[in-house]
Amino acid sequence: MTKEYEFQDHTYDVVVVGAGGAGLRATFGLAEQGLKTACITKVFPTRSHTVAAQGGVSAALGNMGPDDWRWHMYDTVKGSDWLGDQDSIEYMVREAAPAIVELEHYGVPFSRTEDGKIYQRPFGGMTTEYGEGPPAQRTCAAADRTGHAMLHTLYQQSLKHEAEFFIEYFAIDLIMDDEGACRGVVAWNLDDGTLHRFRAKKVVLATGGYGRVYFSATSAHTCTGDGGAMALRAGLPMQDCEFVQFHPTGIYGAGCLITEGSRGEGGYLTNSEGERFMERYAPSAKDLASRDVVSRSMTMEIREGRGVGKNSDHIYLHLDHLAPEVLAERLPGISETAKIFAGVDVNKEPIPVIPTCHYNMGGVQTNYHGEVVTKVGDDPNVLVPGLMAAGEAACVSVHGANRLGSNSLLDLVVFGRAVALRCGETVDPGGNQPALPKDAGQFALDRLDALRYAKGGTPTAELRASMQNAMQSNCAVFRTGEVLQEGIEKMKEVWSAKDDIKVSDTSMVWNSDLVETLEFENLISQAMVTIVGAENRKESRGAQAREDYPDRDDKEWMKHTLAWCNEKGEVKLDYRPVTMQPMTNDVEAVPPKARVY
Ligand code: FUM
Repeated sequence: MTKEYEFQDHTYDVVVVGAGGAGLRATFGLAEQGLKTACITKVFPTRSHTVAAQGGVSAALGNMGPDDWRWHMYDTVKGSDWLGDQDSIEYMVREAAPAIVELEHYGVPFSRTEDGKIYQRPFGGMTTEYGEGPPAQRTCAAADRTGHAMLHTLYQQSLKHEAEFFIEYFAIDLIMDDEGACRGVVAWNLDDGTLHRFRAKKVVLATGGYGRVYFSATSAHTCTGDGGAMALRAGLPMQDCEFVQFHPTGIYGAGCLITEGSRGEGGYLTNSEGERFMERYAPSAKDLASRDVVSRSMTMEIREGRGVGKNSDHIYLHLDHLAPEVLAERLPGISETAKIFAGVDVNKEPIPVIPTCHYNMGGVQTNYHGEVVTKVGDDPNVLVPGLMAAGEAACVSVHGANRLGSNSLLDLVVFGRAVALRCGETVDPGGNQPALPKDAGQFALDRLDALRYAKGGTPTAELRASMQNAMQSNCAVFRTGEVLQEGIEKMKEVWSAKDDIKVSDTSMVWNSDLVETLEFENLISQAMVTIVGAENRKESRGAQAREDYPDRDDKEWMKHTLAWCNEKGEVKLDYRPVTMQPMTNDVEAVPPKARVY
C-alpha cells in the first residue's frame, strides 16, 4: 500500500452505514444496549433523505376511527400485489403501534386531534374491514413534515445514547473475507481526505434507495444506492429491483414531492376536461387508490390527449377548494413547495403534477431481523455472516411489487429497531473479533485510485445523464419488451463508455468530482439490475406495468427476482418463492385475488 493511502483503523461492535431514519433508529438502539456503535454518513444526519418524507407513518392506532393491525396487513399484502412476504408484513404491522408510541415518547412532535391523540389521515390503499369498509385514517402525521420531525428526534436520541458519528465520510466498499462473511467497511473522510478501515462484527447497510438512476425523481441527489452497490460488488444479489414506484404527484418539471397526504386531506386530480378521472379508474377509492394505480391512470389520461398545460403533458392536483386553515395547519410544507417550485398559490390554483420516480421496492435481500440473506444452491435464505440491512436499501420484503404510502417511514423505524434487537441477541458487547483478512480494504483502494486518476474523455455528468435518460424513457411507468430491450442496449453502451470516464480533480479533500463518480458507479449497477429484471418479468404486477403482458401471472411469476451484477455489467437472475404464510397463527394468510380499488 502506498503511503498516500494509509488507513486509520477503527474497531466497533457494529457499524451502521447511513444516518436516515433506519440508520439512526438502528444506531441508537444498538448504543442503548451497550454495543460499541459507529454510524458512518456521507451527509450530516439531519440532511439525510428521510427529512423530505412528508405525509406520515402508518400504524393501526385507531385514534380517528376503528382500526386493526390485521386490516393494515391485508391492505399491505394487497398493495404489494401479493409479492410481499406475509411473515415480514405481519411483523411490520404488528410492531407499528409500539414503534409509534415509542417515537412519541422519544419526542416526535406529532399533530394532535382535539382530544390530544396523535392525528391520523387517510392514505392511498389503506382501508378498514379487509377492504370492505370505509378508508382507514391510519397515517400518523406531523403536519406534512413527518420525516423531518422523526429524523431530528432520532438523531437527538442517538446523541443521547452516545453513539459515535463519522459525518461526511463516504463508504466505499465492504470488507469481505474468504468465507463470504462481512468483516467491516472502508470509508473516505471527505473533509480531510483520510481513509478509514472499520472492523466490526456486524455492518448495517442503511443507505437508502437509488432513485437517482432516473432523470426525474423525488429523491435527493444523494440517493445513489451506495449500500446496494457495495452488496452487488461483494457478489450478493439484490431482490425485486424491477419494481420502481412512481409517485403520482411530483411537481411537473421540478420533480419535488407533493404529499399523498394532500389527497388524504381532500385534494383531487383533474384532466384537461376538468374531469375527476380517478372516479373511472378506481370507483371506490378514487384519488386514494394505491400509487401504482393512480400513476398509471394519470399516464393514460395524458397519452389519450387529456393532459393539461401547453403540451398536454401533465395533470392538475386541486387543493384550492380546501379551507385555508386546513392548508395552513395540515399542509404548510407543500403549500410553500408549490409556491417556490411551481409558482402556484394552492389556495387559488391547482398544482401541475406528473408521476415521478419516488421509491425502490427492491433492495438487498434480508429476513425480518434485518439479516442479509443470499441464495446458495437451492437455498434462497442463507445468512451472510456480519451483514445486515434496513430501510429502503433493504428488501425484507414488505412492499412486494408496490409500496403503500406511509409504509416506508414505518418500515425504517420497525426494521431499524429490529436490527438493533437482533444485534442485542447475537453480538457480545466489546467481545473479541478476529483480525481483518490480509489486504483488507485493498479492493476499495484499487477502485478509488482507478477512478481518481481516470483520464478518459467523458465527464461523469455526461455518463450519468445518458443513464438517467435511458432509464426515464425506457423503464418508466409503462413498459414493453421492445422498449426495455432498447433500454438494455442503451445501458450497455453507457456501461462500456465508463472505460472513457474522466475525473478532472485528483485531490482527496472535498473532491465532489470523485464523489459523484463513485456515486455514478453505484447507480449504474442498480440501473442494470432494474432494467434487466423488468425485461425478464413477463407479467404486470404492482409497479411493473407491461403493456405486452397486461395481466398478473401468479402461476409463473409469483416469485421474487434475485439479481447479481458483475464488474462487466452482466446481470444474472434467479428466483425465490414468496412467503405466503404469516409469522404467527394470530392472522390468516391473505390469499391472492384480483386487485381492484
Ligand atoms: O406522499 C407522501 O407523503 C409520501 C409518503 C411515502 O412515500 O410514504
